[in-house]
Amino acid sequence: MLTKADIVGRYLPNHLVFGEQAEAFAPSNIALCKYWGKRDKVLNLPVNSSLSVSLAHLGSHTQIRPSSSGKDEVFLNGKSLPLEQAFAKKVVSFVDLFRRDQMLPLVVDTRNNIPTAAGLASSASGFAALTLALNRFFSLDLEDTVLSVFARMGSGSASRSIYSGFVEWQMGQQADGMDSHGVPIPVCWPDFCIGLVKVSTGQKAVDSRSGMKRTIDTAHLYGSWPAQAAEDLEKLHAALQSQDFEALGATAEHNAMSMHATMIASWPPLVYWKPESLMAMQKVWQLREAGVPVYFTMDAGPNLKLLFQQKHQALLEAEFSGLEVVTPFAVG
Ligand code: PMV
Repeated sequence: MLTKADIVGRYLPNHLVFGEQAEAFAPSNIALCKYWGKRDKVLNLPVNSSLSVSLAHLGSHTQIRPSSSGKDEVFLNGKSLPLEQAFAKKVVSFVDLFRRDQMLPLVVDTRNNIPTAAGLASSASGFAALTLALNRFFSLDLEDTVLSVFARMGSGSASRSIYSGFVEWQMGQQADGMDSHGVPIPVCWPDFCIGLVKVSTGQKAVDSRSGMKRTIDTAHLYGSWPAQAAEDLEKLHAALQSQDFEALGATAEHNAMSMHATMIASWPPLVYWKPESLMAMQKVWQLREAGVPVYFTMDAGPNLKLLFQQKHQALLEAEFSGLEVVTPFAVG
């Protein structure tokens, strides 16, 4: 069976050269058609293709430099992490794929500018920024598709964070996953807004990896997910081409609810919602009944991400206190 090291190794020179330091930025992204389920757990190959929108300047900045302490150091938002901590471990084993058995202690310094209060996952932007920074640090000069493949092996959704704007992560067919990567969709939608509704920022009880596994292993309902995702992907592409906001919003919300249905049908049940999540959903549905075109999507957590057009921003800020608004295509 192929390992991550086999894949990365194909693109490395025999002797790595490296500079003094390198840094890179990658945006966070929100999926409108979700990635839920792996067909290969080692390489993070998905059961279905997904589609997201990147959050412009909101994401992760990662810097890599040689460590003078003789051992690896991992910083997150200015804080040094113990190397046995889960995120630090993932970072170090990802870096190991590149430096292999070469003794090269490094400092990996990641700063997220995602509003921490918004409860947005940072693994997508984090692994994309780390991949881009490693590419620069070791002067690998890799193509974007290869960078997307590598980022995907850190965290599935990171494959989409290599690009800005709307991005499809094509599931691919190959066993080595070289055809499973992000592809940018050339659509600019200036008045498209995302509103982050904060319900809870606590650590989630079940991470995405375990959640996907539990759903596949125990939920019969999961059987209907791949077809639903494929259908939604087509609808989203059509809505993007015609800039049909309501079709886009309705498809994204339906897709998120379908994913959550498979989670809820797992055993033990996987319910990421809090009572406040349901209250926020009901408010969205009431607003829609009253004629306001607002939709939501949700990931493996209790927070809602509202989708709306800029002309409704003031109204929605009044309805959802503390709403954090992101305009992925705003200029400047
Ligand atoms: O990339 P991961 O392993 O954190 O999984 C992300 C899963 C969802 O956020 C629920 C869906 C998605 O497509 O981002």
